[in-house]
This record gives sequence, C-alpha cells and structure tokens, in this order.
Amino acid sequence: MTGMDKKSKKPLRIKIISMGNAEVGKSCIIKRYCEKRFVHKYLATIGIDYGVTKVTVKERDIKVNIFDMAGHPIFYEVRNEFYKDTQGAVVVFDVADRQSFDALDSWMLEMQNEIGNQSEMDNVVVCVCANKNDKKRVVDEAEARIWAETKGYHYFETSAQTGEGVSEMFQTLFESVVMAFENGGKRVPVQTTLGYSKEQADAIQKLRNAKNDYERLGLPPGATKDDVNRAYRKLAVLLHPDKSVAPGSEEAFKLLVAARTTLLKRCQ
Ligand code: GTP
Ligand code: MG
Repeated sequence: MTGMDKKSKKPLRIKIISMGNAEVGKSCIIKRYCEKRFVHKYLATIGIDYGVTKVTVKERDIKVNIFDMAGHPIFYEVRNEFYKDTQGAVVVFDVADRQSFDALDSWMLEMQNEIGNQSEMDNVVVCVCANKNDKKRVVDEAEARIWAETKGYHYFETSAQTGEGVSEMFQTLFESVVMAFENGGKRVPVQTTLGYSKEQADAIQKLRNAKNDYERLGLPPGATKDDVNRAYRKLAVLLHPDKSVAPGSEEAFKLLVAARTTLLKRCQ
C-alpha cells in the first residue's frame, strides 16, 4: 500500500453543531437521523448534547462529532465555547413559529462573534432546516429559501416527525464538508437551482414587506406619473415571471402591477 492509499483511507473527523431557538426541533432532527425515531414529548437540551456517528461519503469514512446545542438563551454561556473548529452547522427554525425564523440572523451573529475569524466563519457549511413542515406554516418556503440561499447556505424543508428531508439534509452537509476538506478547507460555493440574483430576491422581499404602494415602488408619497412608470419599469425588468425564477416572483410581480395601477389613478 502506498502512502497515498493509506492517507485516503484515513477516516475524516468532522464537527457538526446545531443552532436555532429552543423547541424548533434540533435534537429531534438529529435523533431522526441517528436513531430513526421521533419523540413527541419536549425534552429541552440542557447546555449541550454530544454524540458520535460514522458515515461513508464519497468513499470516505467519516467520524462525525455532533454537538447539539440548547436553544434557550440561558444556556448561552455553556454553548458559546462550542462554535470554534466547526465544519458544518445545522441551523433550524420552525415553519409554524415566525420568531424562530426571525431569530436566524442573531444565531448567525452569535456564531460569527464566537468564531471571530471571518474566513473560518465563511468556510462553515450551513444547512438551514425549515422544520416541522408537517404543521400549518406561517413562514413560507420562498422567503426562507431566499434568506438561506442568498447567503450561500443550503436550504431544506424538513420534518423530524415524518422524516422528510432529514437524511437528504445530512447527506448534503457531509458531502459538502468533504468537498470543502478536499478543497483545502475552503467551502465550495453552494450549487443551488436558484438562477436568480440577490437583487431580484431583495426586490421581492421589499415588495412583499412594503406598507403601501409608494413604498412598493420605492417612491416618496406624491411621486409623479413619470416617477411611477420609471420605478415600475425598473422593477418589472427584474421581476417579470418570464425573466425571474426567484421564488415569489409571480406574486411580487402582481403586487407591482397593482401598485402601479393604483398610483397612476391617484396621479391623474
Ligand atoms: P432545545 O433543546 O430546547 O433547544 O430544543 P430543540 O430545538 O432541540 O427541540 P426538540 O428537538 O427537543 O423538539 C421540540 C418539540 O418539537 C418536541 O416536542 C418535538 O416533539 C417537536 N418536534 C420536533 N420536530 C418536529 C417536527 O418536525 N414536527 C412536529 N410536528 N413536531 C416536532
Ligand atoms: Mg434540543
């Protein structure tokens, strides 16, 4: 056996962490994957749970160290030291709980602050799980997917209860970590089916979140007919469903057309 062979047979050790608000289902997702079962009763993680599992990905044996973090704020002091030297993060929110989605930015910030080093942070493979998708949702897929994919994160719709998406998510996570490892520790850009730009994604968000028609077109109240048409054309080019495959384009385009119609009537 040559040195090269020995090297390629050596199991890779990787560290994975879970993040996200309390009760979103982090422990259940891990349990679903490792033990193929689901527990209905909520047993809050106290500080950190640690587990090891072995997988084979791309003909490589991998020893996966999983640090399952507690989401509750009182455990911040316990979990904060576990962010460093992480290759993969499972970032979870509950599709039936708006707050848990809104909290994702602060979770990423917490990780950033603890890791400190920007390039280490940028090379963590992140899989976002829109979990509990067996329930009646309040956060829709388009919005969450855009949040994740425009940041270079993988996005999965999961249910720890039914098992949907869970093994696919872990498979992608492990594969991406191995790819990063083979790429000298640099995260390989996420291959998404996106085919749309951040500009398009942002325009959709803006249209959806605007409080009135002026805001929808990015105009001050009292804008002229010309202003309205100019703003409309600019956005229409970005968002026309024939041109944009960004999730939510169609709905956003309808909002845009309606806003323009209303404002033009007001200008006359
Ligand atoms: P902390 O450890 O406190 O941070 O919470 P956690 O994110 O680990 O949540 P956990 O996995 O313990 O799950 C919380 C509750 O949500 C439990 O009662 C689970 O049974 C339930 N749950 C988890 N995943 C799902 C899911 O996909 N669907 C449904 N319907 N319930 C789920
Ligand atoms: Mg837990």
